[in-house]
Amino acid sequence: MRELRNTLELARNAGVAVGHFNVSDLVVLKAVFCSAQELQVPVLVGASEGEREFMGVRQIAALVKSLREEFDFPVFLNADHTHNMESAIVAAKAGFDSVVFDASALPFEQNARQTREAVEALKAINPAILVEGEIGNIGTGSEIHELSPDLSKYLTTPAEAKQFVNFTGVDVLAPAVGNMHGMSRKMVEGEKRKRLDIERVSQIKAAALVPLTLHGGSGTDDEDLRQAIAAGISIIHINTELRVAWRNGLEAGLTAQPGQVVPYNILPFAVESVGQVVRARLRLFNHLEDVPAEASNRAASRVREQQAVS
Ligand code: G3H
Ligand code: ZN
Repeated sequence: MRELRNTLELARNAGVAVGHFNVSDLVVLKAVFCSAQELQVPVLVGASEGEREFMGVRQIAALVKSLREEFDFPVFLNADHTHNMESAIVAAKAGFDSVVFDASALPFEQNARQTREAVEALKAINPAILVEGEIGNIGTGSEIHELSPDLSKYLTTPAEAKQFVNFTGVDVLAPAVGNMHGMSRKMVEGEKRKRLDIERVSQIKAAALVPLTLHGGSGTDDEDLRQAIAAGISIIHINTELRVAWRNGLEAGLTAQPGQVVPYNILPFAVESVGQVVRARLRLFNHLEDVPAEASNRAASRVREQQAVS
C-alpha cells in the first residue's frame, strides 16, 4: 500500500489535489470512503481534537485501518488541528498517517519553536508520519458563522513560509491565502463564495517547496479551487459543507419516515446527502467534473495510470 507522502507526490505530478474530509461519525466516514471508492481516487479522512474525543482516537484509527486493509484502498487518516503535544503523541501512537500541529494562534516565533518540537517528537514515534504546520490566521470553527471576520491582514507571506518550513522541518504547510474556517449564512445559501489569493499560493509554493494544504475549503469558489491546485495546493480540507449536508440528510430521513426508529433506515439519507457533497468536491479536485457518473471509474483509472507512470 502506498504511503501518504507518495500519494501527495503523485497527485502533484498529475496536477490534482487530495480531498481531506472531516468525520465525526460512521455516517460521514461511510459517505467519504464510498465516494472515494466510487471515483477511485485517494482520500484523507480528518479528525480534529473534538472529533477524536467524540469517536475515540484508537477507534477511528481502527476503522480507517480496516477500510484500507479490507479494500486495499488508499484512505489515510489525519489528526487535524492538534493544539498540544500530548494529543499529537496519542494520535501518532494510534497509527495516524499525519498530524496537523496547529500552534498558529501563537506569535510566529513561538509557533515555529513548538512546531519544530512536535516534528521531532512525532517522527521519533513514526518516521513515516507527515507533520503539517500552520501559519497565518484563518479563523476557527467548521460551523455556520453569523459574521465573517476580516482576516486579510493575517495572510501568509512567502518569506514567512520559507523561514517556517526551514526552521521546523514540517512536511506540509498550511498557509492563509484568503481561506477561512466555516461558512457564513450567505455561503450556505450559495449567495457568496470564499475567494483565494492565487498569486500568493504560487509564491508560497515556490518559497516553501513542500506540499501545501488549503484549510477552510467549504464555500470556496470552484474556479479559485482549480487555480489554487494548479498553483500548488496538494490537499484541500472540507468540513462545514459536510456538516450542513449531514444535518439536511438526517432531517430528510426523519421527515420521510414519521415514526421510524430503525437507525439503518433513517441514516442512509444522511450518508447520501453527505456523499453528494464529497463526490462533487472529489470530482473537482481530481479533474473528473466532465465525466458522467458511470464513466468516472474509467476516467479515474486513467488519472491513476498517469500518476503511476509519472
Ligand atoms: O480542518 C478542517 C477544515 O479546514 C475545514 O474547513 O469547515 O471551512 O471546510 P471548512
Ligand atoms: Zn482546518
